[in-house]
Amino acid sequence: MSRKLQEKVAIVTGASAGIGEATAIALAAEGAKVAIVARRSDRLDALAQRITESGGEALAIVADITDDAQIQTFINKTKNTWGQIDIVVNNAGIALVGEIAKSDPADWRRMIDLNLVALMNVTHAVLPILQAQGSGHIVNVSSVAGRTVRAGIGGYNASKWGVNAFSEALRQEVSRQNVRVTVIEPGMVNTEIDSHITELGARQRSEDLRKSITPLESEDVAAAIAYAVTQPSRVNVNEILIRPTTQTW
Ligand SMILES: NC(=O)c1ccc[n+]([C@@H]2O[C@H](COP(=O)([O-])OP(=O)(O)OC[C@H]3O[C@@H](n4cnc5c(N)ncnc54)[C@H](OP(=O)(O)O)[C@@H]3O)[C@@H](O)[C@H]2O)c1
Repeated sequence: MSRKLQEKVAIVTGASAGIGEATAIALAAEGAKVAIVARRSDRLDALAQRITESGGEALAIVADITDDAQIQTFINKTKNTWGQIDIVVNNAGIALVGEIAKSDPADWRRMIDLNLVALMNVTHAVLPILQAQGSGHIVNVSSVAGRTVRAGIGGYNASKWGVNAFSEALRQEVSRQNVRVTVIEPGMVNTEIDSHITELGARQRSEDLRKSITPLESEDVAAAIAYAVTQPSRVNVNEILIRPTTQTW
């Protein structure tokens, strides 16, 4: 079986759980060498071992991507190890949802720092490498919440609309340099994301909503990302909106 990402190097942020973990596995299965980035070293080590045991190559890098110095370190480590960077999946994120009046502004800052500012800073730090290579692919994991707005998730909406706007400007700026940009917009996915919500009523509502449908699995989103990054270089899959079948919103 020919593997479509043989000789390619990918970075996946937020790879210690959920969509990022499944994406690292999916890209490694297509032959990519994957740098897996998150804060929990035990989870990263277990994932790296799993990928290696399946015949792949993985580099576990512990980093908090809201820290600029740590961004530069994981990019340098990846480039120094494998000599190139072809795919960056900006996936790490949190969904600290809640009604605006009931939200803690500290949660908004934390969420926008991670979901939006860190994604922008990772992109900024890696772009010179992709431009010098004359090729590369940046995949930004947004959300259906980056396209539609719902009462009760305004802060999260703001972070993900920011991701979509930034991604479209990026696409326009770097397309002629042969750098591709894809936005992934999942609906509800069965991950640990709700566990971080601090407003208890909002957490309960989100969990109830998730239970009211059959959510996507992380592997479903990983398959969409794998699809985007395995297309011929002339094809730029700009956007994938992927909802659970039973999700109406
Ligand atoms: N689940 C959904 O329903 C859903 C729907 C639409 C979009 N999304 C988006 O999909 C992405 C992944 O979400 P998920 O559901 O897979 O969430 P998850 O299971 O909670 O995983 C989040 C990942 O982000 C990492 N992370 C958090 N803070 C970090 C930091 N400061 N530095 C580095 N890594 C950090 C976590 O690892 P550590 O804790 O080890 O650092 C973890 O690996 C997010 O952008 C989310 O907004 C999710």
